[in-house]
Amino acid sequence: MIGLFERLARPFLHALDPEDAHSLTIKMLACAPLPRAAGDDKRLAVRAFGLNFPNPIGMAAGFDKNAEVPDALLRLGFGFVETGTVTPLPQRGNPRPRVFRLNADRGAINRLGFNSQGAEAVLRRLAARANAGGIVGINIGANKDAADRVADYVRLIERFAPIASYVTINISSPNTPGLRNLQQAEALDDLLARVIDARERVTRRAGPTPVLLKIAPDLSLAELDDAVGVARARRVDGMIVGNTTLTRPASLREMKIAKEAGGLSGRPLLPLATRMLAETYVRVESAFPLIGVGGIDSGAAALAKIRAGASLIQLYSALVFRGLGLVAEIKSALLSALERDSLDSLSELVGADAAAVTAEAWPG
Ligand SMILES: Cc1cc2nc3c(=O)[nH]c(=O)nc-3n(C[C@H](O)[C@H](O)[C@H](O)COP(=O)(O)O)c2cc1C
Repeated sequence: MIGLFERLARPFLHALDPEDAHSLTIKMLACAPLPRAAGDDKRLAVRAFGLNFPNPIGMAAGFDKNAEVPDALLRLGFGFVETGTVTPLPQRGNPRPRVFRLNADRGAINRLGFNSQGAEAVLRRLAARANAGGIVGINIGANKDAADRVADYVRLIERFAPIASYVTINISSPNTPGLRNLQQAEALDDLLARVIDARERVTRRAGPTPVLLKIAPDLSLAELDDAVGVARARRVDGMIVGNTTLTRPASLREMKIAKEAGGLSGRPLLPLATRMLAETYVRVESAFPLIGVGGIDSGAAALAKIRAGASLIQLYSALVFRGLGLVAEIKSALLSALERDSLDSLSELVGADAAAVTAEAWPG
């Protein structure tokens, strides 16, 4: 049903401005009576950060920024949904147009700049569904004009940790000037110390909530050494690798659109994001699990992420080109991979290729 509906709707959505198409998709998900996806095979289940995921496929942050449709996405078969990025106060983000499709490359560039309805609106929606079950995380970010950006993260942890399944600290958006500087060792250490401290205060009254750190794929390996070192020392529960890239791979075909400022996502991001994931995996030494994101548009790409070190995966851009049927396609590809190797669980594949991936030539 949803497949047929989508096949009919996609050409229409593609004729629209990407941001209008997105708003319409959110409205449709909020209103349409959605069929519930078939229950997941138990071999796809993943335990990570103290949570039980029915399958490893998550909706990446940025699709449901204001937590309007997390339950619709869970119904459609996602194993978890990351809502946000939410900022403390509402803000509009950058002027439009600010999202661009690179059709020939199956990619996208965005410079949204944390457009958010703000913490109050998002909190109200998450609180209303808090007992609905399913894993729904929240990705948090600082307001563009915040006098003290670290204080914004602390405030959001205090508000959201009691009702979200997990909280992601997003310091890797390329579209808020200076935000990525929080990834540098000293700034990151100060941020994580205060964030983890806030989380501990909340834990005493509301129980523990995992805190994850989402990084950019554009860090140098020396910067990655530092980021992983600080994340381990401050005992975050996991890392997400990663956000969009400011680089423009030489292989891009949509040369004109590629000149737009902003973060690149989708298929052209896959090689870099997977390399950074493997580099992170070998540095983390199993201290915590990783979520692999960036360019997943097939079962093979999902499996490559897991073999490079991801316990869980997330995707966004490929849904624009492949539709929601991709989720079921990835599940069946992962089950085939397990059957091929006579394995009972995906955990046996996590990181199997990490060392090999880090030995390859750097993706260009
Ligand atoms: C339009 C758009 C908006 C996004 N907004 C956010 C966001 O608010 N917060 C965030 O952490 N990542 C955001 N992302 C990044 C995605 O979560 C993901 O890390 C990135 O797109 C790579 O995955 P993909 O290639 O599957 O799209 C956004 C991506 C896109 C395309």
